[in-house]
Amino acid sequence: MGLCFELATQLIGKLGEAVKVVDEVHGFRYFDQRAMIGFVDGTENPIGSEAVDSTVIGDEDRQFAGGSFVIVQKYLHDMAGWNTLTVEMQERIIGRTKLSNIELDEEIKPSSSHSSLTTLVENGQEVKILRDNMPFGHPGTGEFGTYFIGYARSPEPIEQMLENMFVGRPPGNYDRLLDYSRAVTGNLFFVPSANLLEILGTSAVNATAPLQHTSTSSIESLQKGSLNIGSLKGTNQYE
Ligand code: HEM
Repeated sequence: MGLCFELATQLIGKLGEAVKVVDEVHGFRYFDQRAMIGFVDGTENPIGSEAVDSTVIGDEDRQFAGGSFVIVQKYLHDMAGWNTLTVEMQERIIGRTKLSNIELDEEIKPSSSHSSLTTLVENGQEVKILRDNMPFGHPGTGEFGTYFIGYARSPEPIEQMLENMFVGRPPGNYDRLLDYSRAVTGNLFFVPSANLLEILGTSAVNATAPLQHTSTSSIESLQKGSLNIGSLKGTNQYE
C-alpha cells in the first residue's frame, strides 16, 4: 500500500490541475486472496503464456500491439443481506465452495452461478480474461466493496461476461451476486505498451519525431487528448 500511495501521490502531483479527482479507492489484499464476500477470488485466472495470450494485443491490431484493455468497476456489497444467506446458498451463487474453493459439480452448479455466466467458450476453446480484483471497505461507515479490474486483449469478452451477468444467459438467468452487489462506477481503458507510451512522450515534445508503431491519424487524435476509445460496444474506432 505504501508503494501504491507513493505512486498515486507522484501522479497527482505531476498531473496537477489538469485532472479533478472525483473518487479515490484504496484496495487491499484480504485473507487467502478472498473477495469481500468471503470467496477466494482469481483462482481461474490464466497463468504464464496463457495469461499473455489472453491479455496482450497482437497482430490483430498491429498499431497497438503490446497494449491491453482494462475494464474497471467499483462494486458496493450489501454485506448484511449477503450474510443472511447460508453458505450453501452463497456457494451456488458463486459456483465454488467457500472454505475449500472447489468448483461445484456440474449437476449442482446452477447455470446462473457467477462462474458459469463468466465462462465463455468459442470454437471449443475457453476465452479467458485476467482479473486483479481488489477488496476495499470502511467498516466505520458500513461501506464494503470489490474493485473489479479485468484485462483482456479486446473489450469483447468482458463485455460479453457483463451482459451474461446483468441481462442473463439466457436473458433473465442473471447473476444473483448482483442482488447483493451494485456497480457504482465503471470504465474501459486502453493500456498502451511501454514502447507506445515512450513514443507518445517523445512526440509530444517533438511532433516531427518518427513514429514507428503508430499511424499518423492515431497519433493526431492522441495528441488532441483522445484515445479514440468509445463505449463498450466493441467496435474498432482506430480507423
Ligand atoms: C462484485 C464483483 C465481483 C466479485 C466479488 C467476483 C468474485 C469472483 C469469485 C469469488 C470468483 C471465483 C473464483 C475465481 O475463479 O476467481 C470469480 C470468478 C470469475 N469472475 Fe468474478 N467477481 C466479480 C465481478 C466480475 C465481473 C464484473 C466479471 C467480468 C465481467 C467477472 C469475471 C469472472 C471470471 C471470468 C471468473 C472465472 C470463471 C471461471 O472460469 O470459473 N467477475 N469472481
